[in-house]
Formats: sequence, structure tokens, C-alpha cells
Amino acid sequence: MNETGKVTTATLRKKKREGKKIVTLTAYDYFTSRLLNQAGIDLILVGDSLGMVVLGYENTIPVTMDDMLHHTRAVVRGNSRCLVVADLPFLSCHISDEEALRNAGRLIQEAGAHAVKLEGGREAASLVKKMVRAGVPVLGHIGLLPQDILKEGAYLVRGKNEESVIGLLEDARALEEAGAFAVVLECVAARPAGEITKSLKIPTIGIGSGPLCDGQILVIHDLLGLYGSVRPKFAKPYADLQKVMLEAFDGYKREVEEGKFPGPEHSF
Ligand code: KIV
Repeated sequence: MNETGKVTTATLRKKKREGKKIVTLTAYDYFTSRLLNQAGIDLILVGDSLGMVVLGYENTIPVTMDDMLHHTRAVVRGNSRCLVVADLPFLSCHISDEEALRNAGRLIQEAGAHAVKLEGGREAASLVKKMVRAGVPVLGHIGLLPQDILKEGAYLVRGKNEESVIGLLEDARALEEAGAFAVVLECVAARPAGEITKSLKIPTIGIGSGPLCDGQILVIHDLLGLYGSVRPKFAKPYADLQKVMLEAFDGYKREVEEGKFPGPEHSF
């Protein structure tokens, strides 16, 4: 945190230097953002996982810039101290560097994000460099890249053989050299994730990448026990909100059907 109590990219670097863990979650709306601020979370990612957990798509591919702008604005309205990072969705930074810069700029200027995240390692490094030079802080993302699902056909763990580990290390270093302020490691085997973390000055934030990363991120629906069709192995539920919500819906339905709600105390 800086002197105003706000988390910045410098806060995250300091946490790494001091060996303090960085605590990160996704959010997609105003209400959740307010609670994450209250809970003292460091970084809120408005992830394109939005597509699956909020919009009901099968994967992140259909998520648009308009979706990201809309949800980032809501998160920003609920935020006062966390670092808010918005995802650059599928194809938003592949058509040209010019378009990528414009899209990153929109997430910052129009929606109020403090930084953007984009998927890709060495192949994304020159674009990251241009964004950073333009004043846009970038969170890198390597390992499993959900936006590659159509190309890859499956979500697979990375870093399980030497060639893959070497590639990941090169990706991570390229992003660091390009000026990324941190890098997400998604579904990287725990030992190589630790090696990457040790070899970088910038922090790593792991998801499904073991305990040796500098920080952790979870999709908030997984943490709250709100599952759709997929329940990833790495996701630990800290609550069973699905059960709590179903009980609430059931109680409401029963009381309305039985004429018990609204009672006199809820009537004018
Ligand atoms: O979209 C997202 O939520 C993400 C996290 C899983 C890192 O990219």
C-alpha cells in the first residue's frame, strides 16, 4: 500500500521483496468489489472468466471488449483501495498493436482499471513493451492460456517436461524484460512454478500452480462454492454459497406459496 492506503504495482513488488504473499481474487460487479475492499484483498482481476461464471458461456472466447468495459466499470465503482486489473479479451490485442493499445487504453481511461492483463509469453513481449512505454501497466499471463482453448482443444497442466519448463522460463523472463509488473502462472506444475518465481524480480501470481508463487488468485465463484459445470481440482471452496442460496430461494418460495411472506412487519 502507498501513503494513501491504495495498493499499487509498487506495493506488489515490495511484497515480493519482503516475502509477503499477494492475495488476489476475481470480481465482476460492484457489490463483490466492495466486499473485497473490506476484506483487504490486494488485487482484483476483472477476468474474462466472466464469460463462464457470469455470462454462462462455455469458455472465454465470446467475451467482448464491451463486456469487459461494462463489468470493469462496476468493479471500479465499488473499489477504493485494491489494484484493479482488467483482462484484454479474445482477439482484442491480436489484430494490430495499434488496436491492442487502443483497447488497453479504453479499459484504463473509460472503465477506470489501473492495469490490464493479457495472455501470452514471448510472442506477447513486444506488445507488452509498447503498452508499458505508453504508460499502461501490464500483468502477464503464461502457462495454461484459456483463450487458446479452440487451438489446444483441452485445458492441460504446463511444465510437466523439461522442454515445457524451459519455454515457461523464457516466457516469464521475456515478460519481465518487457516491463510487465507481475505474471500470472496458470496451471503450471508446482516445482517449475517455484523455479520461475525464484528467477524473476517481478511477482508471480499462481492459479493451480502450487504454493511457491508470490501470490495466489482464484475465480471468486470457486472460492465461494458457486460452481457451474466445471469444478477445477485446484479450486478450494471456502464457503458453500450454492447451498446457502438454494436454501434461501426454497424458504422464500415456500413462504410465498403458504402466504407467510410478506408478514405484517413487511407491509405498509
Ligand atoms: O479470467 C480469469 O479469471 C483469469 C484468472 C483465472 C487468472 O485469467
